[in-house]
Amino acid sequence: LEGADTVKAQNITAVSTSVGPAERAAANGHLGGVIWLTGLSGAGKSTLAMGAQSLLFSRGWQVTVLDGDNLRHGLNRDLGFSAEERAENIRRTAEVAKLFADSGMIVVVSLISPARADRAAAREVAGAHFREVHVRADLSVCEARDPKGLYAKARAGQIPNFTGVSAPYEEPEAPDLVIDTGRDSVEAALARLVDHVDQQFGRG
Ligand code: PPS
Repeated sequence: LEGADTVKAQNITAVSTSVGPAERAAANGHLGGVIWLTGLSGAGKSTLAMGAQSLLFSRGWQVTVLDGDNLRHGLNRDLGFSAEERAENIRRTAEVAKLFADSGMIVVVSLISPARADRAAAREVAGAHFREVHVRADLSVCEARDPKGLYAKARAGQIPNFTGVSAPYEEPEAPDLVIDTGRDSVEAALARLVDHVDQQFGRG
């Protein structure tokens, strides 16, 4: 991971694109954008990401999901859960999300992304395309849900550095949207998320 935040190669020159954002937006009927869902394990990020993808897709939008658990089976298979590895996980994912957004798509990212600094770095990478959405639920609620049994394992000392138990989660200070899944139904939460995407990246 050494030097991951700097450009190592020399003698490289960026090539400019032959199809620009306005042409893509005209063809797709919406702009490209990154909807970055952050929150505790079990807060509902993946459910909302997949639900939003289905709804937007059914309305003809170009949309995909980058899910942390899934990326860790491929692109990020070499990364664990230390603070440094999480930072690299988020950096790579932000770069990929930017590529999708630049190609005119909506990309819904679902990563715990517990560190404010890492999320700020992701915003830097993705630029004007980036919207941070806090998928919020109390730790006690996430722990009661425990859909994968991970909190029980973490409490039993079987998972080191587990977010919320033995590793920190830094709440967003100024997210673009907060969705409270402890309070709202899945349907209501999804409607708020999709409305936000439409407002931010739709063309009226
Ligand atoms: S991070 O913090 O953004 O790099 O994490 P992410 O890539 O989203 O991966 C989180 C999923 O990995 C599983 N898992 C853990 N989560 C947190 N801490 C530890 N130590 C850990 N070990 C495994 C877990 O299934 C997370 O998925 P979600 O969907 O959030 O529950």
